[in-house]
Amino acid sequence: MTKRTIVTLPGDGIGDVVLQEAIRVLDSAGFEASYVHGDIGWEYWCKEGNPLPQRTIDLIDKHKIALFGAITSKPNDEAKAELSSELRGKGFIYSSPIVGLRQHFNLDICVRPCKSYKGNPLNFVRRGKGNTIDEPLVDVVIFRQNTECLYSGVEWTNPPAQVYQAFMTHPKFAENFGKVPVEELSISTRIFTKKATTRILLAAFEHARKYKYKSVTVCEKPNVIRETSGLMWKLARAIQQNSFPEIKLLNTNIDAQMMWLTKNPEEYGVIVAGNMFGDIASDAFAGLIGGLGFACSAQFSSDNIAVFEPTHGSAPKYAGYEVSIVNPIAMIESACMMLDYIGEKLISSKIRKAIADVIEEGKVRTYDMMKMAGRPEVLKNGAASTSQMTDAIIAKLK
Ligand code: NAI
Ligand code: MG
Repeated sequence: MTKRTIVTLPGDGIGDVVLQEAIRVLDSAGFEASYVHGDIGWEYWCKEGNPLPQRTIDLIDKHKIALFGAITSKPNDEAKAELSSELRGKGFIYSSPIVGLRQHFNLDICVRPCKSYKGNPLNFVRRGKGNTIDEPLVDVVIFRQNTECLYSGVEWTNPPAQVYQAFMTHPKFAENFGKVPVEELSISTRIFTKKATTRILLAAFEHARKYKYKSVTVCEKPNVIRETSGLMWKLARAIQQNSFPEIKLLNTNIDAQMMWLTKNPEEYGVIVAGNMFGDIASDAFAGLIGGLGFACSAQFSSDNIAVFEPTHGSAPKYAGYEVSIVNPIAMIESACMMLDYIGEKLISSKIRKAIADVIEEGKVRTYDMMKMAGRPEVLKNGAASTSQMTDAIIAKLK
C-alpha cells in the first residue's frame, strides 16, 4: 500500500484538539499516512493579514486531501482591531478561510451524513401509539450544493443604476418594488447553474445506488421558487428516469420537510438541496442524531480535491480548557468519510464499529451526551474528557 499524504488544517480553538484525536484513532486503526501541516485561521489573519495563506492552498493543491478542524471568524471591526499593528490600515480585509477554500477549489459538493448510533442518549425520540416512546433510527445523507444559491455573494444594498434598471425589466419587481426608494433596497440573489445542479444531483443518486438507499429526496420549494428550485427538480426527474430508475425520487418543500423531520425521519435516505436549504436540512437532521458533537461532513471538487471536517466551529469558550471536554466523534467520523473516499473501507468500518460499541455500552460519555452545560466541572461529575472518549474508541478497535 502506498503511504498517503494528508494535509492537516487544525485551524483555531477546538479544531486543533479534535483533529489530533482523529489522527490518534487513524493511527491506532492501522491507517498509514504522512501528515503535513497547513497554516489556516485566526493566527495567520493577525500575523499576515491572510487567514488562508497561499502556501496552504499550494499544499492542498499538491496532496489533494485535507482534514480540517475548525476556524474562528469574527466581525470586521474585531478582525481589524486584532490585526498586528504593522498591518493595520493597509487595506487588509478579513474573509472566512473556509469559505475561501470552498471558492478557490470549487468544493461544490458537500456531503453530510446523519446516522443515529444505538444507545446515544441524544437520539431523537417521539411519542408513539398510546403512551409508548419511539426512537426511530435516522440514516440520512444530505447532499448540499456548496458554492451557489444565496451564498454566492451576489448582493447589493442600494444597487447601482444598471442593476436596478435590469431588475425593473421584471414585471414582478416593477409591480412590487418599483416604488421603493433604491437606497432602501437590499437584494441577495439566488443563482443556480445547470452544471453545478447536475453535479450535486448525480453525486446524490450515485451515493444512493452505491450504499443502497431506496430514495433520493429533492428538498427545495419548486412550487414557489420556480426558476432555481424548479431547475433542480426538473433535472432530478430527468436524471432519475434516464439513469437511476431503481431509485425512488421524492420531492419535499423545505418548510414541510422541517415539520416531517420529527414525524418520520426514518423514512428518508438521500436528501439533495441547494446551498441554503441544504444547510438548514443538514443542521436539522444533525439535531436528531446528537447535534454538533456528531455532525461530520465532506466537501469535494471536480478536480479531485476533498476536504473533510466536522460541522461544528472552533467553540472558543472550550478552547482554553486545561483538559478538553468537547466530543471528538464528529471529527473522527469526518476522518472515516476520508477513509471511505480513498477506499480504506475496512479501516473506516472498524472505527465506526468501535464508536458504536462505546456509545452502546454507555460507560464513556462526553458532557454533551450527558446533557450537562459545558464547564470544567463536568469531568468531576462523570463526563469523559475529549481524550478519554478517544481512548475508549481506540480500546474497542479490533
Ligand atoms: P461552534 O460550533 O463552535 O460552537 C457552538 C456550541 O456547540 C459550543 O459552544 C458547544 O456548546 C457546542 N459544540 C461545538 N462543538 C462541539 C463538540 N465537538 N462537542 C461538544 N459540543 C460542541 O459554533 P459558534 O459558537 O457559533 O462559533 C464559534 C466560532 O466558530 C465562530 O468564530 C464561528 O465563526 C466559527 N465557526 C466555524 C466553522 C468552521 O470552521 N467550519 C463552523 C461554524 C462556526
Ligand atoms: Mg450550518
